[in-house]
Amino acid sequence: MEVIIQPNLEAASAVAASVVARLLREKPNAVLGLPTGNTPLLLYRELVRLNLDWSKVTTFNLDEYVGLPPEHPASYHSFMRHELFAHINLPANQAHVPDGMAEDIPSVCRRYEAQIRACGGIDLQILGIGADGHIGFNEPTSSLASRTRIKTLTSETRRANARFFGSEAEVPHHVITMGIGTILDTRQVLLLAFGQDKARAVAEAVEGPVTAMNPASALQMHPSAGFLLDETAASELCKTEYYRWVYDNKPDWQKG
Ligand code: PGA
Repeated sequence: MEVIIQPNLEAASAVAASVVARLLREKPNAVLGLPTGNTPLLLYRELVRLNLDWSKVTTFNLDEYVGLPPEHPASYHSFMRHELFAHINLPANQAHVPDGMAEDIPSVCRRYEAQIRACGGIDLQILGIGADGHIGFNEPTSSLASRTRIKTLTSETRRANARFFGSEAEVPHHVITMGIGTILDTRQVLLLAFGQDKARAVAEAVEGPVTAMNPASALQMHPSAGFLLDETAASELCKTEYYRWVYDNKPDWQKG
């Protein structure tokens, strides 16, 4: 795993944007996995500013609430439209967000997996992380081999996400999320984490044992996973000096 520590979230978001920009320049038909939440907001703003060509890109979002129509302001369909899709030239039929309104959720989940496979798999998966270590909506105790499926949110996650709704009572209990197995199949992962709230989950994911109690720890099994952190999110790591030296002294063959 690579751990990149930046002074603040602005600097870290700029690094993340440069990783995406390079991929899109090298592979104009790249397939991206995308998150929602506060964490990627600056990254998306920077990607819009860079005015990249998205005409051949395909995207798959990690998750969506069950029972929220796409036009609901707290749906991840709405989030993606407002924060990214409305501002770039990505054709609508190349942007995929799980259908939380589907009657037959298991078949929608199977189709989502099949669509990812049909596009040749995800080249770069961007992730956030919950304070409990969740990635996508894979809550602690999620199977490390899980695929896209329906999940039940913990009360902690519903409380954390109540800020996007009128009240906690309005936060759905159920979601569709890509599985941890789905995420492990991607070619490259870049997990972003900012703020003190994330420090414990990050330290356990990077330096603790692989455990379903911290779903992000499964990324230790991924051949190309990076954690891109600000100082506060990195504050509980033990080997920060080593991570900084590695990043500052990358030989050319290791860059990219
Ligand atoms: P956040 O959420 O980016 O809003 O902190 C991250 C997550 O819960 O995965």
